[in-house]
Amino acid sequence: MPRSKPVAERAVPEQEESQFSDDLVIVVRLDVRLHDKRKWRPGVELPLIHAMDDRSLLEVTSEFSFVHPNMESVLRTIPVLLVAVVLLAFVRFLLDRKNGYTRGLPLPPGPKGWPVIGNMLNMTASQPWIAYRNLAIECGDIIYFQVLGQPLLVLGNAALVSEFFEKRSANTVGQDKNYGIMPYGQQWRQHRRLFWQHFNVRAVSAYQQTQTDTTRKFLLKLLQDPSQLVEHIRYAFLATILKVLVGIDVSDNGDNQYSGHIDAALEGFSQGLMPGKFLVGLLPFLRFVPSWVPGAGFQNTFARWREASAALRHGPFEHVKDAMERGDAPESVLAKLLSRVPDESGIWGASAEEVEEIIKNIGFVGIEGGAETTFSAVQSAFLAMSLHPSVQKKVQTELDAVVGPHRLPEFADQASLVYVSALCKEALRWQNVTPMGVPHRTTADDELEGYFVPAGTLVSANVWACMHDPAVFEDPDEFRPERFIRNGKLDVSARDPSAFAFGFGRRICPGRHFAEAGLFIIVASVLHVFDITPPLDEQGRPIEITPGQTDGIIS
Ligand code: HEM
Repeated sequence: MPRSKPVAERAVPEQEESQFSDDLVIVVRLDVRLHDKRKWRPGVELPLIHAMDDRSLLEVTSEFSFVHPNMESVLRTIPVLLVAVVLLAFVRFLLDRKNGYTRGLPLPPGPKGWPVIGNMLNMTASQPWIAYRNLAIECGDIIYFQVLGQPLLVLGNAALVSEFFEKRSANTVGQDKNYGIMPYGQQWRQHRRLFWQHFNVRAVSAYQQTQTDTTRKFLLKLLQDPSQLVEHIRYAFLATILKVLVGIDVSDNGDNQYSGHIDAALEGFSQGLMPGKFLVGLLPFLRFVPSWVPGAGFQNTFARWREASAALRHGPFEHVKDAMERGDAPESVLAKLLSRVPDESGIWGASAEEVEEIIKNIGFVGIEGGAETTFSAVQSAFLAMSLHPSVQKKVQTELDAVVGPHRLPEFADQASLVYVSALCKEALRWQNVTPMGVPHRTTADDELEGYFVPAGTLVSANVWACMHDPAVFEDPDEFRPERFIRNGKLDVSARDPSAFAFGFGRRICPGRHFAEAGLFIIVASVLHVFDITPPLDEQGRPIEITPGQTDGIIS
């Protein structure tokens, strides 16, 4: 079996390398062969970058990911911090004096904190989901923290997650005007209903052709230039979602007017919500501090992110609206929604402007969520393939038998491609796209397993712990699609990673059917025509790869 020539010096350009210096950079070299001709092509480096780099791997950070405060940022915000500390100490003092604050119930267990700053200093910096799983061994699966007066709760097992997020989902809310994290209420329901109309399990079958077409283009790009794997995967998802939502054809070189805005908006979502990174995440009143106040420089950064988000909200919407006015709008979700503005206004008694605002938000969240999340899951699958050649062999044997050497996989093959489907499930389980889920906030005082949960607590599910529970998944760190197969069929009794990976309750990801379809067609198509192998060192020996995840909501 011919081997590829040694890995070139670096897969990541120099100016990029400096950004990642402290982070894990995984360079995966794929040896590419045309599967039907059994012909090897020299592999070229394919960087799979697991780093604090939002452009290569979406890394949206939750308000609840408990990342250790970035010291530089804390130092910069000292003047603001001092004011905040005094105010908080006063508020805590008043609260503690309030009779019956915890209804006589204990607060859930958690690490002991300091006065006022609470557990700020023992927040874990990296891979918090592993730290919380380890902490759960001491504290149990309900862990309580408090940072600057903000209560935080981590739930570490599937039963608790189901109890709190599924059964009491009415008691949990998002935190923003962004549809993805918008509080419950009439407005959220309107967004959800319209989004769901176009992404429910039946509706998404209409997008299969687009998903297939962009996947084929992706294969060609990979064949022509495998060194740009990450960019090609990005292209595939961005091109698909822009075509579906807006009707835009992204050019083959990936150029489109929205990429820059998507990057900045995602960076805002990612960094802006990271606790400790910006104190305003924990102390919302700081958002009113003008940018000229020492320590309030974050306002300028936030303004840049707001601008990018606004461009992404308005741009695609105006693009479709203009095309509709000209009468040449191609079919798209936004075009369909816009054509229904009068009907929808009639249904809700809302003004046309209000309905249009919702349509803008749907376009924005759809692009934001659709372009990058599935991308992360695909990287997990490819990383697993480079580490587990025997799994790859099994998938390819199945693909050979079901699809054969003369064509590429189609959605019609999905029911017969059991091992591919199991592999997609295992990819979602093994390296979670959202290892700590998306935090929800309680709106009223509550009780869980005899513990008091104050109103305003940010509650997060340790999805990673649920997906790596050895009582449910034997040898959970191993990548083993067989765990989802019984008697040659998908085992419906196995815990389904999709029930955790896509969130919970009424907030569960409405893009999940679309995402799963995208994951399937890309994984099946790539493995049908390419082999994925680890990079080689200068002596041509495979380089050992350590799998890892970035910190944040989306990893
Ligand atoms: C592997 C891919 C994906 C993963 C792992 C994922 C995961 C999630 C999670 C964890 C949530 C939060 C649920 C909660 O609050 O409990 C969410 C919400 C959401 N996702 Fe996804 N998602 C993916 C793909 C997509 C795609 C492709 C779209 C768009 C087409 C999308 C659109 C949304 C929207 C609109 C929400 C907000 C829902 C609401 O609050 O009502 N997602 N997603």
